Amino acid sequence: MSPTKNIETLSARERRWVERARSAQSRAYAPYSQYAVGCLLVDTGGKLHTGCNVENASYSAVICAERVAATKMVTRGAREIAVVVLITLSDEPVFPCGVCLQVLLEFGARCQIIAVNRDASRYRAASLAELYPNGFARQHLA
Ligand code: THU
Repeated sequence: MSPTKNIETLSARERRWVERARSAQSRAYAPYSQYAVGCLLVDTGGKLHTGCNVENASYSAVICAERVAATKMVTRGAREIAVVVLITLSDEPVFPCGVCLQVLLEFGARCQIIAVNRDASRYRAASLAELYPNGFARQHLA
């Protein structure tokens, strides 16, 4: 599995993406879990799309930060994710949940994921294909 690395080993551009994800995290609506998550998607045209988690009193209605960002991206006319930057409140970087991996597969089968820990001091990177090999995708419906 991918090693945890110091944030300073990211490029300046990647660190700016981390700051955008962090700013989205600050808008999380997470009164039930208190676990704020922020996400930045970079589409293959280089455009940026942010999301935060949005919870609900009916707990199962939660929308994760990644899915908020992905639906915003599609609404703006983009269809292909190149990079996902995810920041959570965990002390160590954590990768997206299974539901979000499925949604990322729909729009970014070849995307790279950068998971960042709560104080943005450390990260881990992996491809979606590493995290979710053999996922169910549109070709299986053919
Ligand atoms: N959450 C995300 O936003 N993304 C993930 O990949 C994992 C979990 C949110 C959902 C919920 O609001 C909170 O984190 C705790 O599960």
